[in-house]
Amino acid sequence: MAIFINEENKQFHLQGKNISYVFHVMKNGQLGQLYIGKRLRNRTDFSHLSKVEHRVASSYVYEEDPSFSLDLLRQEYPSYGTSDYREPAFQLLQPNGSRISNFTYRSHEVIQGKPQLEGLPATYTEGDEEAETLIINLFDEVTQMGLELMYSMFHKRNVVARSARFINKGEETHKLQRALSTSVDFPNAAYDLVQLSGSWSRERHVHERQLQQGIQSITSTRGTSSSQHNPFLALKRKETTEHQGEAFGFSLLYSGNFLAQVEVDHYENARVSMGINPFDFSWKLGPREAFQTPEVVIAYSDQGMNGLSQTYHDLYQKRLARGQWRDRERPTLINNWEATYFDFNEEKLLSIAEKSNELGIELFVLDDGWFGKRNDDTTSLGDWFVDEEKLPNGLAPLAEKINSMGMMFGLWFEPEMISRESRLFEQHPEWIIHVPKRHPSTGRHQLVLDFSNPEVVDYIYERMAAILSEATIDYVKWDMNRYMTEIGSIAHESDRQMEVPHRYILGVYSLYERLLESFPHVLFESCASGGARFDPGMLYYAPQGWTSDDTDAMERLSIQYGTSMVYPLSSMGAHISAVPNHQVKRMTSLKTRGDVAYFGAFGYELDVTEMAESEQRQIKEQVNWYKEHRELFQYGQFYRLISPFEDDRNETSWMVVSDDKEKAIVGYYQILARPNPGFNRLRLTGLGPDIEYRVEGFEGTYFGDELMQAGLQLESAYNGAQTGGIEESGDFSSQLFVLSKVKQS
Ligand code: DGJ
Repeated sequence: MAIFINEENKQFHLQGKNISYVFHVMKNGQLGQLYIGKRLRNRTDFSHLSKVEHRVASSYVYEEDPSFSLDLLRQEYPSYGTSDYREPAFQLLQPNGSRISNFTYRSHEVIQGKPQLEGLPATYTEGDEEAETLIINLFDEVTQMGLELMYSMFHKRNVVARSARFINKGEETHKLQRALSTSVDFPNAAYDLVQLSGSWSRERHVHERQLQQGIQSITSTRGTSSSQHNPFLALKRKETTEHQGEAFGFSLLYSGNFLAQVEVDHYENARVSMGINPFDFSWKLGPREAFQTPEVVIAYSDQGMNGLSQTYHDLYQKRLARGQWRDRERPTLINNWEATYFDFNEEKLLSIAEKSNELGIELFVLDDGWFGKRNDDTTSLGDWFVDEEKLPNGLAPLAEKINSMGMMFGLWFEPEMISRESRLFEQHPEWIIHVPKRHPSTGRHQLVLDFSNPEVVDYIYERMAAILSEATIDYVKWDMNRYMTEIGSIAHESDRQMEVPHRYILGVYSLYERLLESFPHVLFESCASGGARFDPGMLYYAPQGWTSDDTDAMERLSIQYGTSMVYPLSSMGAHISAVPNHQVKRMTSLKTRGDVAYFGAFGYELDVTEMAESEQRQIKEQVNWYKEHRELFQYGQFYRLISPFEDDRNETSWMVVSDDKEKAIVGYYQILARPNPGFNRLRLTGLGPDIEYRVEGFEGTYFGDELMQAGLQLESAYNGAQTGGIEESGDFSSQLFVLSKVKQS
């Protein structure tokens, strides 16, 4: 597994564990694609994998060779305007108004390991032996613009990590109007497009559609990656299931406006493009300036969608997330938001913490409302000073009291926002994202701070650092509760205004980076009205994210199932909240709520002090039980068994299996009860076929092959894993099965 280069015919074969990606220098000096898919053996020449002939009505580059049409050829980083009519990877506006360019191959280099991308999140290696990186240098004579295309291959993974960098080596100033991270041309379009879409409180639902001629795209124009669409798409064959068949994934490590699209042309070729959304974007490149695109991780699986997910889970968990918390078991937490909203004082918080501590919960998180005069959501964002009416002793004694109980203390911030009613706004009304003379719209009564302005980021850093230094704070929930409008910044010249959304995200990343450097012990959880910025870019800074504000167990089945397409369970904040649920008013049992929330970074978001003693006892059991199995839940292999998006959507099932396959936990959920049911069996997966398992609550033992082929009998055979019986048999029920290898004596 390596990067093979044929110097003579300038072919590049990037080979990963089970993936090959081949491209070459075409006769016009530009790069053309030859293959992407299952790993191929290496050979000296792959040019036979991409042959085209002249087609009537196509434009071609050379008069003497009508077959050399860029519209027919598969390209690596295509431009528009020189015989390819599909959407390009980039567009460079030049001082004379031209958008034509010709980036031709100049040189290449291979480096061991993987370089980081300045100011941007990226996957990484822990030793140079883990990966190899190929950098291709291209150059456009007329504009004197350099282009570096970077490809990293991890030897033991099925991914290609790609990005591009433009470097102005001339004396003129140009404008990038489009600078995507990747473009891949598939030679046929017989795929279904999988996307993760939805809205607030129903994020990342799985949607599938057959590719059609034309452009199908998902985008964000909201300033964050958004809850409407996730920066991910997959192409899968018709016959591909969760566990079998081919699938390609494209995942963008970026938290702002993005584009993910597939263009199917008139010959059934499918071009996948991904990167910063070119809509409302441009970037001025003066002499010696460079522009770095974010990274896209392309993954390949011949083990179905679940195989693709496992590739992403492992990479994102181990080589995207960073820092002290990356490999550590995440603490069980209690968050006061749905328990108190803004209405709390120190006494109330301590009473929740005390009770939670008794129940075994490890981290107390103080959510919104502890600063300024924030008694509702109309005021005080930006004023990161403790509200002494609610907390007369400040944060430090509160944290100390919580610490002395044996719990960690965590705190909520919304660093990127400002309330009109705040001291900060009085002092710096010019610090908001806005366009002079235009009315600034609001969202949740708040305005967006101009994070494209380093002065603003510096100020927020100082305030957050002061708070994080004044008390013992082990966890920060970083929230972001509105999308951008009237995008503009007084910090930049008029011809840089379309840079503001990207500069804003760079500002967010830089603040995260500085805080992580100064407070490496802090566990960050990202949040944006729930899951509106749940993307791989965030994972680089915050190893977990608040998956959704919707904590209803039934809604969470779809949200967590969809999220698991790309993101590992350790990254998904999953809490038990009160009933009736605050988002959908549904009543579900504490058991069902727990059985869903266990499959994530587990916690509570309710007033434990108000609960009946029997429920408190149950919480204690849940917390203890989760801790016992936490490593498996957070770091095991995750398998989806039954999709909530298929058929009548009445069931969902999933499971986690330990790496050595000796332990597994299965969750089965039924939404509505059925009268007089049959004898349903649930077929498991991912087990060792020859391993003999005991299933808690079942008599005898089962071999892995039996559990995977014949399945486990649901309901009637079930005798209760933790509770000693099916707690409820009506609607919204759940069953958990705990499997462990029978120890041979
Ligand atoms: C939105 C978040 O998603 C919630 O969990 C909570 O932190 C509120 N913001 C607080 O305003």
